[in-house]
Amino acid sequence: MIINDIIKVIVLFSVIAVACNRPAPMEKVIEKSLAVAEKQYIQMAEVMKQKPDLLPRTLDTAGNLVTAKSNWWTAGFFPGTLWYLYEYTRDEKFRDYAREMTARVEKEKFNRGTHDLGFMLYCSFGNGFRLTGDESYKDVMLTGAQSLITRFRPKVGCIQSWNSRRGWQCPVIIDNMMNLEFLMWAFKTTGDSVYYKICVSHSDTTIKNHFRPDYSTWHVVSYDTITGKVEAKQTAQGYSDESAWARGQSWGLYGYTVMYRETGLERYLEQAKHIADFLINHPNLPEDKIPYWDYNAPNIPNELRDASAGAIMASALIELSGYVDKETGKKYLDVAEKQLRTLASPEYLAKPGENGNFILKHSVGSLPGKSEVDVPLTYADYYFVEALLRYKNLLKNQQI
Ligand code: GLY
Repeated sequence: MIINDIIKVIVLFSVIAVACNRPAPMEKVIEKSLAVAEKQYIQMAEVMKQKPDLLPRTLDTAGNLVTAKSNWWTAGFFPGTLWYLYEYTRDEKFRDYAREMTARVEKEKFNRGTHDLGFMLYCSFGNGFRLTGDESYKDVMLTGAQSLITRFRPKVGCIQSWNSRRGWQCPVIIDNMMNLEFLMWAFKTTGDSVYYKICVSHSDTTIKNHFRPDYSTWHVVSYDTITGKVEAKQTAQGYSDESAWARGQSWGLYGYTVMYRETGLERYLEQAKHIADFLINHPNLPEDKIPYWDYNAPNIPNELRDASAGAIMASALIELSGYVDKETGKKYLDVAEKQLRTLASPEYLAKPGENGNFILKHSVGSLPGKSEVDVPLTYADYYFVEALLRYKNLLKNQQI
């Protein structure tokens, strides 16, 4: 009798132990994270309402909010995240704030001095148009797309990223792959093949010149404006010219995944798969799957992580998992799931009311530039929320 009771108690404790160790279902992780995102961003919107024309950017070292004007490259992410939260909640409060913050970016449609118009206008107006069908948003974006293609350099075959600087005549950064979704939207909307040709030319030239044999990417490739030849392969935000700056690798992965979606060209799928394999098999990608700020940072494991690189990579891997065979897709999704679980943990996810109303902690803007080091950033928040919604969609459609 006593032995039986002891066995029952042991079985009961084992069941409880197994239940306690089981990770929470992804539905719950997503729900909890989006609940935090909602609370943080409503409060952020209330703060920003009092600061006309400005958008949130980050926190300074004292924890004070740093804002940016609409011409800073990250201006579209806050409105974009508000649109995602409107899509999730269908709460008019989010829609109204999203409209108000989106309007603050409008004048950038005339900005011909930057390649970042995709980030600025497509995350904001693009999501707004997708969700509301507001025709005036379409006009803003078409003007913006016209501005962006003035930076295409036919001799080089790429859109110029930055104006010449540091001795670079025509610098093109890997981040620029992220502007192509905007131009592919303009192609689909107008039927004007100039947009398509520019996107394909930029993507092909970037495959040719930006990637090393192991499919890591340089950050900056600069071209001679007269000959169109490569004049330098270097870094601006990475550890060294030959290192793999983490966010740049994520931008490349995301960019080629989008270009495959938009064109159906197999070479872009192959490129995205090669980049994904380089990243997920990298010996310096930690167990929790949030990259160090550079895969070759010298003091790993004593280096800062970049939550933004993790969030962008998760969102890209979720999309890419839908374009490959089942086994490969599962491999990508397992990494993305781990990334989302890590970002949803107290280490990265803000407690409501803290973290200056941003959603995620621990991103790195530019460590060599000593700017935005180990701080919240609006683009980490944007791609985190996007990835949560993408994963939620897969669950809803029972694709996982
Ligand atoms: N596009 C700039 C960055 O990723 O920091």
